[in-house]
Amino acid sequence: MKINQLNIVVLTGAGISAESGLRTFRDNGGLWEEHPVEEVATPQAWQRNPSMVWGFYQSRRRQLSEVEPNPAHFALSKLAEYAKDFFLITQNVDDLHERSGIMDVVHMHGQLRMLRCELSGKSEERMEPSDLESDFQFCTCCETASRLRPDIVWFGEQPMNMVEIYNKIETCDVFIVVGSSGHVYPAAGLVNFAKQSNAQTILINLEEPLNSFMFDETHFGSAGKILPKLVNEWIEQSSL
Ligand code: APR
Repeated sequence: MKINQLNIVVLTGAGISAESGLRTFRDNGGLWEEHPVEEVATPQAWQRNPSMVWGFYQSRRRQLSEVEPNPAHFALSKLAEYAKDFFLITQNVDDLHERSGIMDVVHMHGQLRMLRCELSGKSEERMEPSDLESDFQFCTCCETASRLRPDIVWFGEQPMNMVEIYNKIETCDVFIVVGSSGHVYPAAGLVNFAKQSNAQTILINLEEPLNSFMFDETHFGSAGKILPKLVNEWIEQSSL
């Protein structure tokens, strides 16, 4: 089938941002090596030591201004132009997909750019220089300003937008995963759901992840090299 006749769903993980200079979680030197998740990425950690959690996320938020999208991000925004329907799900909390030109990005694990009011649960974009300081930040939505928390899905919390995600995968023709170790559910199980929906499943990853056996087609290597080549091949095949 030609790309312009295909409903394409893409799921990305930390591996697609690695070549932009953002650390992954479970590779050598990954984020969870230096900061055990129990200390910085659970609601209990936030209750127990909010300053440590806040410092961890403020440094990641500040880093967003130091990195740029890489060729893998731009390859996906090019693919989005040609597909009949293109739906991007990311486990990543960075904004590199948006900055590569993709308008609608579904962040299932939240976003570093946003902070969430602990009282109302409302999220607001807070990326001004004063928002990135080490002090806690406070909301603009409550009469008495309440403390803001990172708008991130921590371990033990519910991922976001799952109904929309399952609905889109149910009707897709092709399901592509880029840069994910297949460690964390429900993200790691989405390929299974895509297969049940009779989609063709394609994996692009540096190393063989835990769930690689689930894929019809696998490409091992760096996404920044493989994805642009693949997308150009798919476009050329479609123009024949
Ligand atoms: N190109 C392609 N793949 C890469 C690259 C690259 N340049 N560099 C690393 N990878 C692959 C690694 O081989 C690994 O399989 O990316 C994967 C990154 O795996 P993780 O660090 O586990 O990241 P991810 O799968 O996104 O983690 C899922 O776990 O900790 C939670 O919420 C966090 O969203 C995260 C979720």
